[in-house]
Amino acid sequence: MNLQLPYCFCFFLLLQLPFSTNGQAYKNVSLGSSLTATAASGDLSWTSPSGEFAFGFQQVGDAGYLLAIWFNKIPERTIVWSANRNNLTQRGSTVQLTADGQLVLNDQSGTRIWTTPYLGGSRAAYGAMLDTGNFVLAGQAGDKLWQSFDQPTDTLLPTQNLNSGGELIAPYLEKNYSDGRFKLILQRDGNLVMYTAASNAYWSTQSSIGIGYQLIFNQSGYMYLVASNGTILNQVFSNPVSLQDLYLRATIDYDGVFRQYVYPKTASSGRRWARAWSTLPKFVPSNICLAISFPSGSGACGFNSYCKIGDDQRPSCSCPPGYTFLDQNDVTKGCIQMFISQDCSHPSQETDSFEIEDMLNTNFPHTDYEIFGSVDEDWCRQSCLSDCYCAVATFMDRTCWKKRGPLANGVTDPGISDKALMKVRKRNRTEELAQKKSAKKSDRSALIISGSVLLGSSIFLIVLYVFFTNRQKQKLNLNVFLYTYPVAKADECGPIYLVLPIISGMMC
Ligand SMILES: *[C@@H]1O[C@H](CO)[C@@H](O)[C@H](O)[C@H]1NC(C)=O
Ligand SMILES: *[C@@H]1O[C@H](CO)[C@@H](O)[C@H](O)[C@H]1NC(C)=O
Ligand SMILES: *[C@@H]1O[C@H](CO)[C@@H](O)[C@H](O)[C@H]1NC(C)=O
Ligand SMILES: *[C@@H]1O[C@H](CO)[C@@H](O)[C@H](O)[C@H]1NC(C)=O
Ligand SMILES: *[C@@H]1O[C@H](CO)[C@@H](O)[C@H](O)[C@H]1NC(C)=O
Ligand SMILES: *[C@@H]1O[C@H](CO)[C@@H](O)[C@H](O)[C@H]1NC(C)=O
Repeated sequence: MNLQLPYCFCFFLLLQLPFSTNGQAYKNVSLGSSLTATAASGDLSWTSPSGEFAFGFQQVGDAGYLLAIWFNKIPERTIVWSANRNNLTQRGSTVQLTADGQLVLNDQSGTRIWTTPYLGGSRAAYGAMLDTGNFVLAGQAGDKLWQSFDQPTDTLLPTQNLNSGGELIAPYLEKNYSDGRFKLILQRDGNLVMYTAASNAYWSTQSSIGIGYQLIFNQSGYMYLVASNGTILNQVFSNPVSLQDLYLRATIDYDGVFRQYVYPKTASSGRRWARAWSTLPKFVPSNICLAISFPSGSGACGFNSYCKIGDDQRPSCSCPPGYTFLDQNDVTKGCIQMFISQDCSHPSQETDSFEIEDMLNTNFPHTDYEIFGSVDEDWCRQSCLSDCYCAVATFMDRTCWKKRGPLANGVTDPGISDKALMKVRKRNRTEELAQKKSAKKSDRSALIISGSVLLGSSIFLIVLYVFFTNRQKQKLNLNVFLYTYPVAKADECGPIYLVLPIISGMMC
């Protein structure tokens, strides 16, 4: 009897598990079916037979809901397709497979936000979420009338091909799925090209031989361009991957890089891989900081900032000395100058107020207005300091390039031998000291305020406790003072949460 009970319990758990994770058994989506965006809408979705993909609503922070397809068996619920990335809907919006065989997304007030295109004379008989990650509307005979694979957003899945004219648009930021600043297009001329928002092509297969090409993403994880006669023209990715053990996707990320990612399907299959999305070694372009460098546009980062590839092989944007991010939450918007510019009516009088900060292996291509050969570095510094138009000078091989703002195409890379000489206004010691003092003062007053709030609330809790214990004619427990004491001194809120359960526990 002793042994039986836990055994029964375990057996019960085992029985429960497959059903609780998969929702209900797989069914085709019949005409008239619908889903509604609710607080826990991840639970209500149309899943593929294996349960690996699901179609339904995903909540995006507080901003609203996306009608999407996602990897359904990993905690991240990574989105691979969405219908309304530029127009999130709110709670109560619905998607319906209508009686006449169209998928329709309506917002909470019933306004139509998105729908599948008109399917000619043919009518869909049912919808189905397939195990490949493709959601299809099929006719009576099972023929595919519409498929999500033909309307990709930023991601391709194995067996999903990009046809002539097809494009992927990067999301705006990692967690903002709106159309971003980069796209990948399979042009009708047969060239596969990546463009910035300013229409600068920063990567391409340079294969414009004719029409009829297709980008194939096959089941071994290879991605290549083919001619209409089937000849392989250009390998984009040749990272062989076992799709039995790994989930695979190819995504153009918000930073403009087209990457392949894998995720182990089970803990045991993932011995080589962490239980997270890992990037495969080859991605394009191989160095986006260097690839985006054009006479117009800001470069891989915003104006007045510079791009650098980190140890994780990803680009990051930073501000040069004297500049700060325009928007801390969106560093791609670039940087603004923190100091008052040189007075052009008296540049020589102001020269002493400015100094140069060196940035090694750094350049800001395409923004120079003057070039001087056969000069030395010191001449270059002085020349920029005494010229009110000069925002930065770069120096290499006895050549000096003077550049004006806004700075563009900024990049720091070991392959660059230029040294950037950033001109910044000298910091005023008196001003700096005053700033520090006021910062300290506000720090202290914040401490005093939070301290008194904490002290006040703990006294309130003690009074509450005394009130309730007296009502129950119990003795006052000194423990409460011991537990509340650290609260009054702490400069974080943490300990107060300790007190609440103790008090409520005692009152019960
Ligand atoms: C889905 O519908 C198709 C066509 O009617 C049918 O062949 C298939 O068996 C159905 N699948 C399920 C799981 O109902
Ligand atoms: C995403 O970024 C775009 C462009 O800056 C902005 O208009 C939109 O409000 C952002 N969406 C969210 C959910 O923050
Ligand atoms: C978003 O949907 C609303 C209807 O709710 C519509 O009025 C608006 O034009 C749409 N905006 C975009 C960018 O599609
Ligand atoms: C995918 O493409 C590669 C390279 O062309 C080829 O070697 C491999 O056999 C293909 N795999 C499948 C499943 O077609
Ligand atoms: C297929 O098409 C490509 C490009 O048009 C051409 O170079 C190649 O010779 C063709 N191959 C065959 C077998 O026709
Ligand atoms: C520093 O700033 C103070 C206050 O703004 C000003 O009075 C002083 O002249 C400045 N000193 C220099 C060296 O610029």
